[in-house]
Amino acid sequence: MLHVPKKGGDGGWDPRDLVEPDRAHRACYADQEVFDLEIERIFHRSWIYAGHESQIPNPGDFATFQIGRQPMIMTRAADGSIHVLYNRCPHRGAMLTNEHMGNCGQTLTCSYHSWQFKLDGKVHAIPTPDGYKGTRLSTDNPDCSMKAAPRVQGYRGFWFASLAAEGPDLVTWLGGAKAAFDDMCDRAPEGEVEVVPTCFRVIQKSNWKIFLENQLDALHPSITHGAAGKAASEVEDEIKAETGENAPLQYHYLSAFTTPIYKWDGLQTRGFKYGHCILEGYMGLRPTDPDTLEYEAVMERAYGKARTEEILTTNIHHVLVYPCLSVQAPLQQLRAVRPLGPDRTLTEIWHFRLKGAPEPIYRRSLHYFNLVNSPSTMINADDLYNFWRCQQGLESEGGDWVSFHRNAGQDPEKDGEITSVTGLSEMPMRHMFTAWTDYMGEG
Ligand code: FES
Ligand SMILES: [Fe+2]
Repeated sequence: MLHVPKKGGDGGWDPRDLVEPDRAHRACYADQEVFDLEIERIFHRSWIYAGHESQIPNPGDFATFQIGRQPMIMTRAADGSIHVLYNRCPHRGAMLTNEHMGNCGQTLTCSYHSWQFKLDGKVHAIPTPDGYKGTRLSTDNPDCSMKAAPRVQGYRGFWFASLAAEGPDLVTWLGGAKAAFDDMCDRAPEGEVEVVPTCFRVIQKSNWKIFLENQLDALHPSITHGAAGKAASEVEDEIKAETGENAPLQYHYLSAFTTPIYKWDGLQTRGFKYGHCILEGYMGLRPTDPDTLEYEAVMERAYGKARTEEILTTNIHHVLVYPCLSVQAPLQQLRAVRPLGPDRTLTEIWHFRLKGAPEPIYRRSLHYFNLVNSPSTMINADDLYNFWRCQQGLESEGGDWVSFHRNAGQDPEKDGEITSVTGLSEMPMRHMFTAWTDYMGEG
């Protein structure tokens, strides 16, 4: 237990005392009690990403995931509807499955004593039910059924669940962060994306907020990833010298990290209600190679020239859906954040196909998935190393506060949307902590 500052002096602690407009106390990252309260007040109350509907295309399909400390299961019922249930058998409490995904047929069957449940969680059959005669439990008792998440909603194929019965609906809650899903789906000629059904799962030895803060930290890429970027840039030069052609786009995914700091400073970040944030794009993802030109022709046939231009010039690199997602729509990537402890975070790294787009466009997404977001690439590995170092320092007694002072007090706000004065502003971190304080303070 860390010593946390208490302004009221009644012997307890108040999460609002851990955050100031330009800094946060290290207890926010390293204290078990703070973490426990985050799970209760943030993760068990906001909307949390469940998965994409294409993970469970057929009746009987299921996928498991976690909301805070709760093991959950998302199912597809025979009528096509999607349900999110607690992954818990109402008999003696066993998890129904520990598989990440699969198909259970017409019922979910507990392998302990064979209670069976329909795909919406309602009890279907209990072996030798006569044994319950005269007891308080009968099959029409709702206690015999699996418990459903109080609220489940999807937006353009991306499904969320909330363990709180009350609260804003998903679309209202997403607000400007809807752009993550609009941008990704609009880039598909058919207006939809399809998940690639396996993901990387990485356990980061650091607090979940360190990951989110890093996504919009435009100061670190050319420093942390500069060496990888320089190596890729040298290979690009060699390819050009040898062939006279530009290197394929995937080299640029890495060489873009040589972007000098002053250019990062020219980008903009934006903050929306509930802590969601956007970082503008910097990579330039419209080369003029034959694959891209073919894709653009398919897009024009689907949307017309003007709308295609509007879609392809949407310039977003990251959208953070606070507290659970980082989405890179133009690259069809999504990372889901599942906190495990103050110093442990599971991330699921997914990528998607644009429905109706030519195959080489999918390969690009796969290249980015493997070259930048994979745990085995130098880019992600360098980030993970930073996160671990931050966690080690924050658990030390070398200082109590984390600095978010860069451009503090200079964040212009209009109609509930905050913009940064420079790309390097630590506005996104301050903005996320404002949401954190709202969730944690109000409960
Ligand atoms: S614990 Fe599931 S059937 Fe007994
Ligand atoms: Fe990074």
